[in-house]
Amino acid sequence: MKQVSHIKHTTHPKSNIPRAKKSASGSGILLANWHLKTVYIGCLWVSVSGLLWFVSHDILQAEPNDFQRWSLILHGAGSFIATMIFGSIAVQHLIMGWKMQRNRISGITLISVFSALILTAFLLYYGSEEMHDYVRWTHIIIGILSFVILPLHIYLGRRSRAKTVSAH
Ligand code: HEM
Ligand code: HEM
Repeated sequence: MKQVSHIKHTTHPKSNIPRAKKSASGSGILLANWHLKTVYIGCLWVSVSGLLWFVSHDILQAEPNDFQRWSLILHGAGSFIATMIFGSIAVQHLIMGWKMQRNRISGITLISVFSALILTAFLLYYGSEEMHDYVRWTHIIIGILSFVILPLHIYLGRRSRAKTVSAH
């Protein structure tokens, strides 16, 4: 009997189909619009809230106040969202990118950054007192670096697609 596939492959990874025509229900290496927006909003949320807390607490050294409390609460909430985003990327984007041998270096860098942020966040809660300062600064420095690494990854990935398309 003939097998019927229920998966719509609407976007060929090497094609230059405009984003507006992409399936709303799923995508290949390119993310569907809703997915891409979720990645942007979730990553901005966790990064900006973490940065606000850092600026208020460490740079301005303000006395504990409601702004600090709320930025940390929002950061905690954003960190759950960022972790889900990481999982959602792992399902398809990451595997396809790897198999197609595209954008591997910045992709691995991004996975390392996300993993290190999650690990150091875990250690902030459950690590020993002695390691707290190291863990904290590692989290903050990698967090600040992530402001550059995700946009760079997207830029390099899109540039590699443009090259692939023009070569065909
Ligand atoms: C996957 C991404 C991230 C996750 C899962 C994550 C998770 C967490 C968690 C769970 C905490 C502890 C919150 C608390 O004590 O209530 C924390 C603290 C913090 N995070 Fe993040 N974070 C992420 C990204 C970032 C980024 C991008 C920055 C940018 C600077 C950042 C800066 C901070 C700062 C400054 C703290 C407070 C550290 C302290 O003094 O205890 N984080 N993060
Ligand atoms: C935490 C892990 C990762 C995140 C959050 C992430 C996120 C993104 C996002 C948002 C885009 C833009 C997609 C679009 O325009 O629809 C992108 C592009 C891309 N990524 Fe990733 N990525 C990750 C890991 C990886 C890995 C591991 C690889 C490869 C081994 C990879 C390969 C690519 C490629 C090839 C593109 C360009 C797609 C194109 O425009 O043709 N990514 N990534």
